[in-house]
Amino acid sequence: MSDEKKSSVVLVEEQSFVPNHIAIIMDGNGRWAKEHSLPRMMGHQRGVKVVREVVKWCNENNILYLSLFAFSTENWGRPKSEVSHLMTLFLRSLKKEAKDLIEKGVKLRVIGNRSRLPKNLVEHICIVEEQTKNNNKLTLIICADYGGHWDIYNAAKQSIKVLQEKKLAVEDYSEEMFAQHLQASDIPPPDLLIRTGGEKRISNFYLWQLAYTELYFCDTYWPVFSQNDFNEILESYKKRVRRFGKLDSSK
Ligand code: IPE
Ligand code: IPE
Ligand code: MG
Repeated sequence: MSDEKKSSVVLVEEQSFVPNHIAIIMDGNGRWAKEHSLPRMMGHQRGVKVVREVVKWCNENNILYLSLFAFSTENWGRPKSEVSHLMTLFLRSLKKEAKDLIEKGVKLRVIGNRSRLPKNLVEHICIVEEQTKNNNKLTLIICADYGGHWDIYNAAKQSIKVLQEKKLAVEDYSEEMFAQHLQASDIPPPDLLIRTGGEKRISNFYLWQLAYTELYFCDTYWPVFSQNDFNEILESYKKRVRRFGKLDSSK
């Protein structure tokens, strides 16, 4: 290729070996419990302990954002008792972990449709978000009553409102303007998505945000996800070549 031609080719930017933003679909709580002849809720409870550990490992590795898929829009379809136990567990964990999050410099953000969550849970989410808002180490994004379809649909509705209020022409409304209405639009998209529990699907998680995310499916059930698993995944991420549809700069 001539030098002239080469310079007009857009090369992919220098790649960072540590992901800025990790997103996790924490799956396998129920199956882990079943394998140990325990009620499903024991799986969820153990899962919370792993969340605490993963926050620590992310901080140690200077990861800036960690998104955790905690409850999907479809999870409301589970038995009432499981849903209610999950909500109680979320509230209890928030209360218990707030102090630790503050000490560790973790900023909490909760995204999703808050209108269907229990009122006392939402109140507590607001308290902890306020208490941790000036923290600047890791941002922990908990996705609760979150669905990728809901997020995009919600952004579309907000966009229509803006178009009507500002009397803008649809042609003048850019993709970037639309994306500003997505949840956590101020946070860069995930570099790495991990799904534990062996399933190989996205299950309506970040649909827009995962466009160029590296995907890693791990068989370990979430309640026993270990630092070894985590380190192995980070090592594997280092070997990925991210091209974003462009050309690899080293070629
Ligand atoms: C993930 O574990 C936690 C939530 C969806 C709340 P599951 O409860 O889906 O566990 P499995 O997939 O049944 O093993
Ligand atoms: C995805 O797990 C949702 C969360 C981890 C919160 P699910 O267990 O709900 O997903 P499916 O049903 O296996 O696709
Ligand atoms: Mg599951």
